[in-house]
Formats: sequence, C-alpha cells, structure tokens
Amino acid sequence: MKRIFLLLVAVAFFISACSNTEHPEGLEEQTVIEDVHSYAYIHEVKTLHLDLDLEVDFNNNTIYGIASHTISDHTTDKMIFDINGLEIIKVTLDSGVETDFKIGKNDELLGQPLEVTIKPNTKQVNIQYKTTDQSGSLDWLPPSLTSSKKYPFLYTQGQAILTRTWIPVQDSPLNRITYSATIKVPSELLAVMSADQLSPKNADGIYKFKMDQAIPCYLIALAVGDLEYVKLDSRSGIYAEPQLIEKCAYEFEDLPKMINIAEKIYGKYQWDQYDVVMLPYSFPFGGMENPRLTFANPTLIAGDKSLVSVIAHELAHSWSGNLVTNATWNDFWLNEGFTVYFENRIMEELEGKEIANILAIIEFQDLVESLALIEDSENPEDANLKLDLEGRDPDDGMTDVAYIKGAYFLRTLEHTVGRKKFDEFLKGYFAAHAFQTLTTEKFVSYLEEHLLNPNKIEFNTKEWIYQPGLPENCIKISSPRLEAMEAFAHIADQGGDLSKDNAFRKLKLSDHITQEWQTFIRGLNKNVSHSQLAFIDQQLGLSTQANDILKSDWFKLCARVNYTPAFPEMKKYLTKVGRRWLVEGIYAELAESKDPKRLEFAREVYENAKTNYHTVTARSVAQHLGLK
Ligand code: BES
Ligand code: ZN
Repeated sequence: MKRIFLLLVAVAFFISACSNTEHPEGLEEQTVIEDVHSYAYIHEVKTLHLDLDLEVDFNNNTIYGIASHTISDHTTDKMIFDINGLEIIKVTLDSGVETDFKIGKNDELLGQPLEVTIKPNTKQVNIQYKTTDQSGSLDWLPPSLTSSKKYPFLYTQGQAILTRTWIPVQDSPLNRITYSATIKVPSELLAVMSADQLSPKNADGIYKFKMDQAIPCYLIALAVGDLEYVKLDSRSGIYAEPQLIEKCAYEFEDLPKMINIAEKIYGKYQWDQYDVVMLPYSFPFGGMENPRLTFANPTLIAGDKSLVSVIAHELAHSWSGNLVTNATWNDFWLNEGFTVYFENRIMEELEGKEIANILAIIEFQDLVESLALIEDSENPEDANLKLDLEGRDPDDGMTDVAYIKGAYFLRTLEHTVGRKKFDEFLKGYFAAHAFQTLTTEKFVSYLEEHLLNPNKIEFNTKEWIYQPGLPENCIKISSPRLEAMEAFAHIADQGGDLSKDNAFRKLKLSDHITQEWQTFIRGLNKNVSHSQLAFIDQQLGLSTQANDILKSDWFKLCARVNYTPAFPEMKKYLTKVGRRWLVEGIYAELAESKDPKRLEFAREVYENAKTNYHTVTARSVAQHLGLK
C-alpha cells in the first residue's frame, strides 16, 4: 500500500517537474523519498525528540522502560513506528492517557509496524516496552567473554535497521531526531551512549545523557560494562575495560592529532567531544561511528599503532555519514565512499603519502576480489554505487563497492579537477548539507552545479554511479614497497624456495608494516607448497604472533590451500574474534573448498564460536556454511 501511494506522488511530481520547475530533484527531495526499509510515514508525522527512560537488566538480559516521542504537528490520526523483536506493553499520549495501538504482520527482515492512534493535538507518544531475545541489536556478554572476565557487558549496534530491535522508532536514516536518556544499570557498571554524558560514575547506577544535534536513529547507541576512562586531550579520550585501558591509550594516542587534521581539511568538528569505547571481541565491526563515541573492536590494538586507520575512518564519519547522511540504504556509498576517501586523506597527513598509497592499494586488492564475486553472484547490479535493496537486507549493500569503488570515484574526481578545487568543493558540500540527509541524485546535481559545470569538466559520473564494474579512468596507484612484497610471494608461488632467498630469510614480522605482509600473503596462491607455508609460518609466526588483521588473511590462505597444521590456531582465532569481515572470509574459504572435511571443520568451529558472535556476524557466517 505504502509503495503505491508513494509511487503516485512521485509520478505526480515527475509530471509537474517536467512541465515547469527548474529544480525537479530539489522538489522531489523535500517531498517524497521512499525508504523501503521502514514502515514509518515521516512526511505525515515524525519524531522530533526521543526521551528514553530505561533499565538494563543483566539477570534477564532485557532492557525495559519507556520511549517518549515528542512529535511534529500533524493532521493524521495514526503514527507508525518500526519494531522488531520488542514486546509493547502500553502506549500513552502526552501526560498519560492510554491509547490504542496495533501491531502489524511480522516481516522477517523489517519486523513489524506499530500503529499508534494519536489525536490532532498530540504532542507526545510514550511507549512502554521490553526487549526480548529476538532483539538483534543487543549483544549480552557473560563475564567470560570480556577481558576482565569479572563483569557482564552489553552493547547495541543500530546500523542499518537494528535500532528498532531495542527502541520503538521511525527507523529510517531520513528521520533526524534529538534524544535524551536516563539509563539504570547495575551499580558496579558504567553506561555510555552516543551523546553528551551528563553523570559521572556513581553508586546508584543511574546515568543521564543528551544529544542536542539531530541524528538518524541508527546512530543511537549504548554500551554498559566495567569501563574506565582515560583522557587524551580536552575533547577526546578512551573508555575501556581496566585491563585494556593503557594499551588503548598508547595505540590511539594520535587521536587528538587526527581530529585537528580532519578539521583542517573539511571544517570544524561539530560534535564537541570525540571518544572511543573499546568493546569486547564479539563486536561485529572494526569500528562504528556512533556520534561523540566511536565503538571499536579490540582487534585494532596491534601494539604498534599500525591499525589506526580504522579510527581515522570512524572519525571521518563525523562529517560523511553523521553530518551528511545517506537518505536511504540505497545511497550507502555516500556514507562509506566519502569516509574511505576522507580516512585516506587523514592518514596521508598523519603518516605521509607513501603509507596512504599503501592503504589505498590494499583496498583496491579487496575491491577487485569483491567485484569478481559480485559479477558472478545473483545480484550483479550490486556493483553499482547506487543500490536497489528493496526486499533485501541493507547489510547486503555493505560491500567494497560502497566503500572502495566509492572512494576511488572521489579520488578519480580529485585527480581530474585538482586537489585544491576538490577540497573547496567538499568543504562546501559538508557545510551546505550539515545535519541533512542526501540522495545520490541530489549529490550528482550538487556536483554538477558546484564543481563540474563551473570548471567546464566532463566527467563520467553516471557511469561510475549507475554502471557495474570499474570505469577506465579509475586512477592507478602504485607502491614500490608493495611490489617488493609481491616479488617475494611470486618466488614461493612459482615453486621456488624462500628459505634459500637471502633477503627473505632475514626478515622478521616487525620489519614490515601490516599492509606489506598482507600483500605478501595475498600473493601466495594455490600453487604454494605446504612446506613453503611451514617455513613462512615458522619464520614469521603468522599463526601465533601476527596481529588480528594479518591473521585473518593468513588463515584465509591456509583454509584455501588446506594447510591443516594452522587449523588449531585458526580455530582459536575464530572462537575469539567476532569481527565479521575478519572471520567471514575464512569460513567462506573453508565452505567453498567443496571439501567435506573442511566444511565439517568450519561448522564445528562455528557451533562452538557462535555464542561469541553478534547476530550480524552469525547471520553472515551461517549463510556461508549453508546453515540458513
Ligand atoms: N558504519 C560502518 C559499519 C557498518 C556499516 C555497520 C553498515 C552496519 C552497517 C563502519 O564505519 C565501518 O565501515 N567499519 C569498518 C571500518 C573499515 C572500513 C575501516 C569495519 O568495521 O571494518
Ligand atoms: Zn564506515
């Protein structure tokens, strides 16, 4: 029903746009943008402010309380929220009059519409509810899965459409709201949120928060655990479990520098505070850009700051994503492509062009592999930047296309127009769209109007955005340092013996950075002999000493070539780490080998490891293993 209505409006606007207006796309932008991943009709009535009053109960693994929505002026008599896996207890209006509500049919992907009867003068809708074991956003960890092993831990993951599994909201990125919260937790734990922290650690376990800048609902986030704080400078710091806090403070000590660099490039940091909270290993991402408080995975703690580009990435989202937000999940590349581009610019300032190039080449290797897989998949159009995810999980759009093809599109543009002009353009773009949402189409017209036309530049924008694959003009980046590593790999892959190579024989893991070793490992293909792998592992300690990024590439190779001596360490790794992109590739290799033994091994490991996986990771892995 909703689709038909929207389509009619869209057609009406298209006709009127064709006949008279100068900026039809502007008109369309304000009036109807369809988000196929939300039941809400935010153009009829929308939440302006959300106030949460919640209690976190670790005995029953539930969150219980009231979500009060202050709503916009309206003429409709119903308001629709998205819910998924929530138990709705009671709904009241304004100061407490109970009202009717109806819960629609459950869709496995989208959950249910919660339809609340409202009055023309209703200002506030208060929903009393409880989370359940179907609340996919929530990861309840027993003490054994934390680093202290003493206290339980809880964190939420909202992006893309999981906020509705822990709060009843109009869960579309089109909908920007402010929020405040009072959260009650066990007295020995601390609660942190993507908001201004108003209460210090206290014995009552009651914490208050407020977020005065309007954000999309997927950025509402909460973590509760035995957390300490270390300040890095006046506006940044780290929360972590006591055992990790020192390591984190060292690993991320360049954070204040990064914020200054980012501000110099694209304008003032708009969120006042920038903290990072280190979560347990089960966190399904390297990082998540919750405003004021990036959520991070302990796999980033390499001991040598070699993985800080993930923090640069999450920081960059403070502009691309959090300040200027993709209107729908089909425009996801506007969030991630810009962020990968910006991340690399921060890294270039911090570590120099050579390192930035190395990082960009590693990304390119990933992209080439992903594009090949997507081309052969059921959905080859997923190789376009602009996606069509109707009827599918927005998570399916979380591929290297949005991230890396998106970033290479921007790099190629930068190369074409020159950095100075491109930076001016991007600075203007962030300023012009701050605290707004944007469609791909609106971006394209802004690009034409503010960069391409004034400079009389022809650019194949449409090919980049609406066609699969990589356009011819994609810039090429090279790095002699990586070429040297490829040469080593080539020796082993061609049946040579690296133990007889004088240069290689002397190498230790610490002689090269993570990305150089990644290039080496990725250069070893099916032809490498098991005796060479044994020598390499013995010399470098990849199975045991390497950081978690390198281990992921190494175990992927071992899975592909069936190098079983590494399997016990691989199992340990898969049981400890829950970061999706690190474990998924290993499981995929084991499953796709078509070797029943390897598949059985993978299933066995997964059975055992899945209690340490967030639903996001578990879902992806189960798919690879044919368990779903
Ligand atoms: N926002 C993403 C994570 C995300 C995307 C969660 C889509 C849910 C749906 C985050 O910023 C991210 O991209 N993390 C990456 C970092 C990497 C690209 C540097 C990760 O976790 O690996
Ligand atoms: Zn990102």
